[in-house]
Amino acid sequence: MKYRLLIVTSMSLVFVIGLCLSAFAQELKPIQLPEPRLDPSKSLVQALKDRKTTREYSGELSEQVLSNLLWAAWGINRGDGRRTAPSAKNWQETDLYVAMKQGIYLYDAKKNTLEPKVSGDNCSLTYTQDRFKDAPIHLVFVADLDKMEGDEGIKMVLAGMDTGFIAENVYLYCASEGLPTGFRVSIDKPKLGAALKLKPNQRIMAAQSVGLPKSK
Ligand SMILES: Cc1cc2nc3c(=O)[nH]c(=O)nc-3n(C[C@H](O)[C@H](O)[C@H](O)COP(=O)(O)O)c2cc1C
Repeated sequence: MKYRLLIVTSMSLVFVIGLCLSAFAQELKPIQLPEPRLDPSKSLVQALKDRKTTREYSGELSEQVLSNLLWAAWGINRGDGRRTAPSAKNWQETDLYVAMKQGIYLYDAKKNTLEPKVSGDNCSLTYTQDRFKDAPIHLVFVADLDKMEGDEGIKMVLAGMDTGFIAENVYLYCASEGLPTGFRVSIDKPKLGAALKLKPNQRIMAAQSVGLPKSK
């Protein structure tokens, strides 16, 4: 009897320690990105010529490339906190989430950090088409309608336009660096919204994958 009790107790202990360790392993920390460093010799004309949607990806992006990409997309480019993309009435209602294998982070442009939101691989919630599955990162554009004024229809139109400007910045940055990128609206919004614990007025507008070119 004593022997059985000992076995059950040890097994429970191993189970509890396992749970603690896995919770510890899943705990994500904020990522401080390096200062963005964009190559000033890259030509806008060439980027415009090369801009395109690509749906084949591979590889991982370095933190330097991620920092450059996020700054180009929606970084602060002036002392008054305004951004590389315009926004209606400067509401800056778009939040940029970054989904990666280890979790989903929120880009904080002021601190140049990625703030952890959800641990674990939820990348597949950012697409409904398998063609995006090999991309190492998926940007998710979320509009916070509470930061805007007017009726909901107008807010959604303006938020859509604002998302488009950011997405085009991503396209141009990727074209200038030879990185594949693809914008989309086909997203599992209910599941992704639930995973991100979004408020009812936070709306998923679109997603955009970025990666390294797939070798032929
Ligand atoms: C509003 C919008 C929604 C889009 N949604 C999707 C999508 O759900 N899936 C996809 O593979 N591409 C999507 N795209 C990418 C377009 O298919 C692509 O831009 C178009 O075929 C033109 O190709 P290009 O970007 O290479 O010029 C979308 C583009 C826009 C602007």
